[in-house]
Amino acid sequence: MWDYLFFIVLPYVAATLFIVVSIYRYVTDRFSYSSLSSQLLESDELFYGVVPWHIGIIGALTGHLIGFLFPKEVLWFNGVPVRLYILETTGLLFGLLALIGIVALMWRRIRMPRIRAVTSTIDTVVLVLLFVQVVLGVYTALFYRWGSSWYAASAVPYLRSLFLFQPDVEMIKPLPHIVKTHIINAFVLIAIFPFSRLVHMVSLPIEYLWRPYQVVIWNWDRKKIRGQYSRSKAQVKEESGESSIGTASISR
Ligand code: HEM
Repeated sequence: MWDYLFFIVLPYVAATLFIVVSIYRYVTDRFSYSSLSSQLLESDELFYGVVPWHIGIIGALTGHLIGFLFPKEVLWFNGVPVRLYILETTGLLFGLLALIGIVALMWRRIRMPRIRAVTSTIDTVVLVLLFVQVVLGVYTALFYRWGSSWYAASAVPYLRSLFLFQPDVEMIKPLPHIVKTHIINAFVLIAIFPFSRLVHMVSLPIEYLWRPYQVVIWNWDRKKIRGQYSRSKAQVKEESGESSIGTASISR
């Protein structure tokens, strides 16, 4: 019963929310697709949290994706012990980096009143869920060896069965509770994704790669304006009139 709810109903509810709400939010409130950066309020401590967090979590999730896409190749790769140790250690290091990053980010939000003031309930929920997810992941990597192999052999067939709309939970039933909680928490994160600032993940401005250049054309006399700070304000006013500051028009 619980397995059915958590590993069949929950993932489909999460995926539906993810797709429908993300599209709805994009169509109705496109400018809310943002990480709502707090860098302007404080940047130094942010750097020491955000950099390890992103390197760690992107590395760990890339590992999950490689295992999902190429399970047979991962099992083949792990057939030689030294390669297995390298893969596991790399995954663990990414996990630890993500852990350091998220602890630093949480600490910054708790400690700084200015950052606390701009933290909403959903921000707190997301931070706590991500923290729990990383702790469970690192715990799994440390205490249920060798995760990269059994992930490919039992978790991936389950995940693929979901994608094929033929859900089969048999392979994950025997997994330890910690691992099952890691999987359930992943679905919860997917479900709240479109309601939170996590949506910035899908708003990379990749159109910058092909959009036309911006051409900036000044519509006032640059030679006259350039030297204005070496002259008095009154002189500038006299020379070029009140409207001398000018504007720039941008055309594509
Ligand atoms: C929001 C989604 C998820 C996040 C953020 C996440 C994060 C992490 C992190 C940070 C680690 C530790 C570093 C590592 O060993 O790679 C980890 C490990 C692991 N995760 Fe996830 N995870 C997610 C979803 C899942 C799902 C859906 C599964 C399985 C169906 C899964 C299975 C595992 C396993 C088996 C490990 C241990 C890997 C090892 O020992 O090498 N994760 N996860």
